[in-house]
Amino acid sequence: MTQVKLSSAPLGLHGHLQIPGDKSISHRAIMLGALSHGITTIDHFLTGQDCRTTAEAFRQLGVSITIDDDHAVVHGVGLDGLHAPSATLNMGNSGTTTRLMMGILAGQPFDTRLSGDDSLNKRPMKRVSEPLTHFGGEVITSEGGTLPATVKGHHLHAADVQLAVASAQVKSAMIFAALQADGVSTIREKLPTRNHTELMLRQFGADITTADDQLTITVHPHPNLEGQHVLVPGDISSAAFWMVAAAITPNSAVTLDKVNLNPTRTGIIDVLKKMGAQMDIKQLASDGEPLGDIHIASSQLRPITVTEDDVPAMVDELPLVALLAAKASGTSKITGAQELRVKETDRIHTVATTLQQFGVEVKELPDGWLIKGRPDWQIQDPVFTSYGDHRLGMLVAIASLTSSVPLTLQGADAISVSYPGFFDDLKHLTGGGH
Ligand code: S3P
Repeated sequence: MTQVKLSSAPLGLHGHLQIPGDKSISHRAIMLGALSHGITTIDHFLTGQDCRTTAEAFRQLGVSITIDDDHAVVHGVGLDGLHAPSATLNMGNSGTTTRLMMGILAGQPFDTRLSGDDSLNKRPMKRVSEPLTHFGGEVITSEGGTLPATVKGHHLHAADVQLAVASAQVKSAMIFAALQADGVSTIREKLPTRNHTELMLRQFGADITTADDQLTITVHPHPNLEGQHVLVPGDISSAAFWMVAAAITPNSAVTLDKVNLNPTRTGIIDVLKKMGAQMDIKQLASDGEPLGDIHIASSQLRPITVTEDDVPAMVDELPLVALLAAKASGTSKITGAQELRVKETDRIHTVATTLQQFGVEVKELPDGWLIKGRPDWQIQDPVFTSYGDHRLGMLVAIASLTSSVPLTLQGADAISVSYPGFFDDLKHLTGGGH
């Protein structure tokens, strides 16, 4: 377990930063590359551990993939070209790899066993296995609906499925099943979630449409997917750490370059604006996912209210919303976020415990937090932990930027799941003071 010393940044954060590639898009580029015919080249690929897990799983299924720095090349085998793996596929810490692959593997002519690390093996998989049954899919989970699980390969049927949870992972698994079905399928969401699978599938040649309600997706099966070039935009979920760092740390002004501004992901920008953050966004030309440069400076923050409808567009940023609320003058209420209970950790609990350790008054609600913010905190214990959760580790590092005492973070290695260069970028923005 890596232990890191953290210190404050009294001079603030400054300069430009190129944000690493989007995690969700990097996973999907490997997957669609594998399921296409021909070669897919991926630039600005995220080399975090989760995306390497996806690449390794497809190698085990017979796909040749090379990763050289942030450039990846996938030699696609087509929807019908995967081979049975010789052993259990290791899903590591990655919920996205697991759930999306369940949809892909459900229609293959072989069975596949999946298992992950201690955290992933506790996360719910029935949310995928149950709706897959509408297509004739079959996933045999462990007791409690978790990994290890076996995906039994079957011939799949067309289906019309209403999803019970607002989850892009579940939606994407259904889309992958629908691609292998024997007719046109409809997938209905509860709330709109990130639509990277739909956008990228269209780029690769699939016939997939989203109705004006943004909730109803129609998928035509057996498209002829052709390898593409994918330029992965900067991950707004990684950029969000620096947006929040700049907003809460006095004397800061940073610019985050080429960040993905897909509206299904920009909830954190809406929150920052509502809280009164000084920020400015420059949209950039792009023929794929929307892209922009984000400038943000130290700000006086107002409290915020977040409810269920707001959650999908900021699901991974809610720990940061809690941190912003903890620095705002007044009481914030965040509800409708029960999904956080089943992330890499129970983030409602781990965020509340972490902020309480910083001396913030936080009440844990069943589905969120009540947070009494104030700019100055009284740290209770200087030794923090990531709880093995990448986003918690980064949250502690950002929160410590305004600390009056030096702090320690245990389990900092978890951060490499989504942001291997996090501490280098922190050093860059704080002028080497860390
Ligand atoms: C993801 C979807 C979200 C998000 C996760 C990545 C994706 O999960 O939290 O980090 O790439 O589809 P849910 O689908 O569980 O909301």
